[in-house]
Amino acid sequence: MKPLTRRDLNKLPSYVPVRSPADLARELGLSEAIKLASNEVPFGPLPGVVEAVTEAAANSHRYPDMAVVALREALAERYHVTPDRIATGCGSVALTEHLAKATCKSGDEMVYPWRSFEAYPIISAATAARGVPVPNTSEHGHDLKAMAAAITKKTRMVVVCNPNNPTSTAVRKRELDDFLDAVPQDVLVVLDEAYREFVTEKRVPDGLKAYADRPNVVVLRTLSKAWGMAGLRVGFMVAQPAVAATVRKVVTPFSTSNVAQAAALAALHQSEEVRRRCAIVIHERERVLTAVRKLVPDMPDSQSNFVWLPLLDQSVPFAQSCERQGVIVRPFPGEGVRVTIGTPQENDAFLAAAETALA
Ligand SMILES: Cc1ncc(COP(=O)(O)O)c(C=O)c1O
Repeated sequence: MKPLTRRDLNKLPSYVPVRSPADLARELGLSEAIKLASNEVPFGPLPGVVEAVTEAAANSHRYPDMAVVALREALAERYHVTPDRIATGCGSVALTEHLAKATCKSGDEMVYPWRSFEAYPIISAATAARGVPVPNTSEHGHDLKAMAAAITKKTRMVVVCNPNNPTSTAVRKRELDDFLDAVPQDVLVVLDEAYREFVTEKRVPDGLKAYADRPNVVVLRTLSKAWGMAGLRVGFMVAQPAVAATVRKVVTPFSTSNVAQAAALAALHQSEEVRRRCAIVIHERERVLTAVRKLVPDMPDSQSNFVWLPLLDQSVPFAQSCERQGVIVRPFPGEGVRVTIGTPQENDAFLAAAETALA
């Protein structure tokens, strides 16, 4: 009998959920465990967000505004573009999928860096595009020259993850300028800037300011990270009007819920608080990097809210040891460990666990 679902999807890795901190705390007999595995910001929802969610929840029996008018207008004003250039989605990960659907037919190619965000190979497989992963450089950053060279006549979409998840590195403007000049005008470049708010290196460009006016560039942003809304699922993209309009056509209908739209509108009033929180994360990131580098000297600089320990075969044992000490981090077997920056107390607990794990 023929399988009911596509046989080619059998090869896809299944999503491995992060260990629940409550479960781990129970197992270890601790009052709580610390989760530094999902690149969330640890300070709770922004002021006004819970109230906006509560108010919007009273209307949950109604469909949300499918065109997301008020939120697209607010985003347009904040980022100095017109609303017709914006599409929103159920997180920016959904928009990556919609973009792949909007560009790739079966057999077309989607080029992406690797190691990078795990969703890219899954999205290319799900859309039946041929995924073309291009290995990072030995310094854990994108190899943009190799990525440009990997583009063929079949390539429809190229992803640049800046800063890169999970390696925390970021490409500079000069390299990105050269890369974008080398990409054919009929290939869409998706610049995934989920961690933009944590960038401190001046030479790393703000994609919205530097490239959003290029006809073949789409910039992806999310409210999940710096804006503290991971559980509410709002991402957005800025593109040329025709590209944004096509994506709005293929978006799963109503996927930005009324609660999510209300929460995002409230969050956008809190940019000062976002800046304050990001400054704490950035300060802690540098403190954690300096401390862990004494044990793992080849850690790359981070431009995001996490750090990367290239521990190779020691990655899984390291993560297991941290877990036994009540700290959940994210291992990538054979490659490295990604550790999200938490509160100063959480980071102290991680530093103590890391010291024991590496002793
Ligand atoms: C590089 C990158 N892009 C996009 C996302 C997706 O964010 P969301 O779908 O929550 O907006 C993530 C989340 O981890 C990410 O690391």
